[in-house]
Amino acid sequence: MDATGPVAGPVVGGPGLPQRRQLVTELPGPRSRELLARREAAVARGVSTMFPVFVAAAGGGILVDVDGNALIDLGSGIAVTTIGNSAPAVVDHVVRQVQAFTHTCFMITPYEGYIAVCEQLARLTPGSHDKRSALFNSGAEAVENAVKIARIHTGRQAVVVFDHAYHGRTNLTMALTAKNHPYKNGFGPFAPEIYRVPLSYPFRDGLPGPEAAARAIQVIESQIGARNVAAVLLEPIQGEGGFIVPAEGFVAAIAAWSAAAGAVFIADEVQTGFARTGAMFACEHEGVVPDLIAAAKGIAGGLPLSAVTGRAEIMESAHPGGLGGTYGGNPLACAAALGAIETIERDGLIERARAIEARVLPRLRALAATVPAIGDVRGRGAMLAVELVDPATGRPDAAATTAVARRCHTAGVVVLTCGTDGNVLRLLPPLAIGDDLLDDALGVLAGALESLAGAAAR
Ligand SMILES: Cc1ncc(COP(=O)(O)O)c(C=O)c1O
Repeated sequence: MDATGPVAGPVVGGPGLPQRRQLVTELPGPRSRELLARREAAVARGVSTMFPVFVAAAGGGILVDVDGNALIDLGSGIAVTTIGNSAPAVVDHVVRQVQAFTHTCFMITPYEGYIAVCEQLARLTPGSHDKRSALFNSGAEAVENAVKIARIHTGRQAVVVFDHAYHGRTNLTMALTAKNHPYKNGFGPFAPEIYRVPLSYPFRDGLPGPEAAARAIQVIESQIGARNVAAVLLEPIQGEGGFIVPAEGFVAAIAAWSAAAGAVFIADEVQTGFARTGAMFACEHEGVVPDLIAAAKGIAGGLPLSAVTGRAEIMESAHPGGLGGTYGGNPLACAAALGAIETIERDGLIERARAIEARVLPRLRALAATVPAIGDVRGRGAMLAVELVDPATGRPDAAATTAVARRCHTAGVVVLTCGTDGNVLRLLPPLAIGDDLLDDALGVLAGALESLAGAAAR
């Protein structure tokens, strides 16, 4: 193959792609293996790849690879293509924008798209108070900026984070993240003034939300001191840490404590935002209005965009020039976000996320009754997970989790894993996926999970 030439495969993705799973080679196929060899010679191994099937086109719930295989996408590029790949409104908006101009830098000569996205964020985020937003590129950048804003607003330094948290891979967000390997190991020293407290993890601690919150608050008050806390940073449903849904009342109690302590409550909705959990933002399930929200991933249908949105008086604490970046709120990404928001609202995707939960969760719960390795089934909307344990000891079983994920991959179903202990299978289908495809994927997953029960019985 020409080392620089295009690879085979459909050139048009989007919802028009045939929506069925079809394997025409083993996975990865020969063209993917060729690309893998090139990748190994050119790409740093620190940027790892879960499943080296190289994509040629994608849309709806399907990924088509360079060998012509059609795989079911239960990952959405880690919760990004919530509305589906190459969604028509995103393509339209981006094409129009790319023909007009690609970049000027909002900090130099601004443009309307940036303002329009900030207006939408003010409308869509919880709370009717006066809000402001600032746009960035990645989730980590949004979280870092939220912390900067909280610190300058309060004049305090300490940041409270939780067990199992994941907030990114930059220096500050590595410090905010809990899991050592692979995210932090060897990359220190890390930023100071970060304090980790216990999360509510109902499957493991069995505590009601208010009790779990009291346990965390006790640690904050005794080890940090309320008056030193600039920000409390919480994922309303934890993502990489294991799709942990805190017990009811936990998020609200932590937010209430933050308000009473004069600390800024930051919701990291990078993974949970934009309809993923069956609400525009997951905090809504808890009736919580955060002071600041960090958003990214699903915001722009696959283009890199992130945002911090929050109370005007907090956001306006940062002086002119203190926030921003060359590419933050790039015109193409803003155009994509406007297309993505239009799609979520026009296509009723919040309701679709709830319908996916209603279809998938009972099926996973039924499986739990027959597969002893399933310790817990949880999640909201189209953010669902299965936690696997060793049935004999109840301990996390990462090896079984990897085995199930591999079986799914080989059969053409892209599932992801997560969790501090690597023992959680997570499902993040695009909301554009059809029920037939979802059922097919669930059948494959069920077979892979049942093979564990079979293995245990043998
Ligand atoms: C909750 C949460 N915060 C922050 C991040 C970091 O986002 P990014 O990878 O865009 O920097 C992620 C990424 O998975 C995330 O899930």
